[in-house]
Amino acid sequence: MRIYLSEDYKAMSRRAANIISAQVITKPDSVLGLATGGTPVGAYQQLVEWYKKGDLSFAEIKTVNLDEYLGLSPHHEQSYRYFMQVNLFDHIDIKPENTHVLNGLAKDPQAECAAYNQLIRDLGGIDLQLLGMGHNGHIAFNEPGDDFGLETHVVTLTDRTIDANTRFFESRDEVPRHALSMGIKNIMQARRILIVVSGEEKAETVCKAFAGPVTKDVPASVLQLHPDVTLVGDRAALSKLVEAGVPVCG
Ligand code: GLP
Repeated sequence: MRIYLSEDYKAMSRRAANIISAQVITKPDSVLGLATGGTPVGAYQQLVEWYKKGDLSFAEIKTVNLDEYLGLSPHHEQSYRYFMQVNLFDHIDIKPENTHVLNGLAKDPQAECAAYNQLIRDLGGIDLQLLGMGHNGHIAFNEPGDDFGLETHVVTLTDRTIDANTRFFESRDEVPRHALSMGIKNIMQARRILIVVSGEEKAETVCKAFAGPVTKDVPASVLQLHPDVTLVGDRAALSKLVEAGVPVCG
């Protein structure tokens, strides 16, 4: 695992965008696994900026997103499809038909999950999977205790995740209780993984995930078992890792 420490959120975002753009440039028809949440927004903004300058093209890129709330339409402002349109897809030359997000309104959620697993296989697998991490160490919506062997599945969100995501909704009651999410198995099958973390409130969990034992209690810890992972964090998020003596690149 490579760990890069950036001074602040902006520098971290730029570094993450650099890694993504290197993938896009070296393999223009890459399959990118994409993430939502506050952390990757800066990286998406940087990619948009480089696209607008003419330095990058997404014309042949395909994307699969990690997860979606169950019950939200793609037009709901808090749906992850909407997030992706607003933060990235609407501003670059990606073909709409090449962007894939789970359908939160699927009548048969299990069938939607099975079809998504098949879609990932049909696309030839994920070349680079971008991840954020929840405060409890969740990746996508794989919550503590979830089986590492799962593929895309229906998830019941934990109280902590509902609390954390309430800031995006009018009230806690409006936060969906269920989601569709790629499983750890899908994520671990990606050829490369890039995980971005920011902020002091994640420092403890970052340390547990990357310097502690691999355990279902901290889903992100499974990434220690992947052969090609890059962790990019700001100084605050990596502070406890550094204190624990884990070597990082500047
Ligand atoms: C949500 C998403 C995750 C994301 C996490 C952290 O729960 N399902 O994919 O990593 O939030 O979000 P943030 O980056 O805002 O802390």
